[in-house]
Amino acid sequence: MSDKAHINFNDQTYELPVIEGSENEKAIDISKLRGESGLITIDPGFKNTGSTKSEITFLDGEKGILRYRGYSIEDLAEKSSFIEVSYLLIYGDLPTPEQLSDFENEIKLHTLVHEDIKKILEGFPSNAHPMGVLSSLVTSLTAFYPKSLDPNRSAEAVDRSIIRILAKMPTFAAWAYKNEVGHPVNYPDNNLDYCSNFLKMMFSLPSENYDIDPVVANALDKLLILHADHEQNCSTSTVRIVGSSHASLYASISAGINALWGPLHGGANQAVIEMLENIKKDGGDTKKWMAKAKDKDDPFRLMGFGHRVYKNFDPRAKIIKKAADDVLEKLGVNDPILDIAKGLEEEALRDQYFVDRKLYPNVDFYSGIIYRALGIPVEMFTVMFAIGRLPGWIAQWKEMRENNEPIGRPRQVYTGHNVRPYPNK
Ligand code: SDX
Repeated sequence: MSDKAHINFNDQTYELPVIEGSENEKAIDISKLRGESGLITIDPGFKNTGSTKSEITFLDGEKGILRYRGYSIEDLAEKSSFIEVSYLLIYGDLPTPEQLSDFENEIKLHTLVHEDIKKILEGFPSNAHPMGVLSSLVTSLTAFYPKSLDPNRSAEAVDRSIIRILAKMPTFAAWAYKNEVGHPVNYPDNNLDYCSNFLKMMFSLPSENYDIDPVVANALDKLLILHADHEQNCSTSTVRIVGSSHASLYASISAGINALWGPLHGGANQAVIEMLENIKKDGGDTKKWMAKAKDKDDPFRLMGFGHRVYKNFDPRAKIIKKAADDVLEKLGVNDPILDIAKGLEEEALRDQYFVDRKLYPNVDFYSGIIYRALGIPVEMFTVMFAIGRLPGWIAQWKEMRENNEPIGRPRQVYTGHNVRPYPNK
């Protein structure tokens, strides 16, 4: 197998190195192309362009494979915990029992946020989308921990910033929800595990006890594992490029939250439920909505379907679909939109338009149905995605910084006016 590629242009041949990854992926290294030939490449949306080499997550879109640091998503979702997976992604290996215990305890020590952050929260109107509140509160950490602004401080300082944001993200998320519903915020309860603490901060009310349902807490833990990383997706690429300017971890994560918010990315889980609700209100006529999704003149897309990488199936969607049945049965929830979702999936799998374009349910298609059954309000679904994706963003930011990657600055092909004189006035 050759480790060289050749480009023939203007009667010249340029030889470029081909690199190969540990899973036999191959890439043409074009870092010297412009210097040698004057040519750049162009690839809107970076559909065929690699931005980095990474040891964190491996995806095989054709085979529906997803592995975090070599461990299959199926194994991790079944046997691990979100905190253990967070450690794995960030530090590269599964923690020993002692390392896991220390990591969990460290996180518990930092779940409380500065009381002045409530003043920032109270400045938001109750109709503020929780994703905007979340990204603002994460950015506010740069003010309360000014030493975190320098990402080049010691490894210990970076680890402290990592622990702080892992610990405070659920608090911020729950507080954003409480601001929306006009309830007093709840403070963290460090006697509880990560997910139970989040659920209690989200749902407990001053007037009553909140009993943690282990089915709900376990389902949430599994969902967070499934969202924890996904190589160079839109929001992770955002975190990396912001971090490449040596912006702080908190500034980079806040940027990632905003990128995730978009309905083509993490915002799809909210859009899926809104779409399914509309189909239900419209009488459940899935054939009509499938036709709209295929109509080029209709901006409607089947939310939760399609993926840039997965062209057979999203392994997370398979796990979540099964979990949806289990959780709804255990909770005794009968959600009619689950049947609509399954009907849409069955139709799409038979429809030539979807088959030709390799469009299958993605991670967002069924996740909202579980979140709804867990009592999470729809406008908080993407916030849940952000809580899950946080360790992946951290791991990718840390890898980019440790590899001392250069500042991200793509080129372009200019297609505007040629030089023209400023008019005499
Ligand atoms: C996530 O990258 C990641 O890893 C993301 C993610 C992660 O974990 O970080 O997996 C999380 O973001 C999942 C995706 C959530 N988004 C949605 O569910 C929104 C609906 N899906 C799409 O908008 C779309 O499928 C994307 C954005 C997910 C992928 O878009 P691509 O790869 O740029 O594909 P494309 O837009 O070029 O579509 C190719 C064709 C087009 O038709 P033609 O022009 O070839 O005729 O497929 C069509 C599209 O019109 N198409 C759809 C469709 N998705 C693609 N048609 C109808 N419904 C859809 N959902």
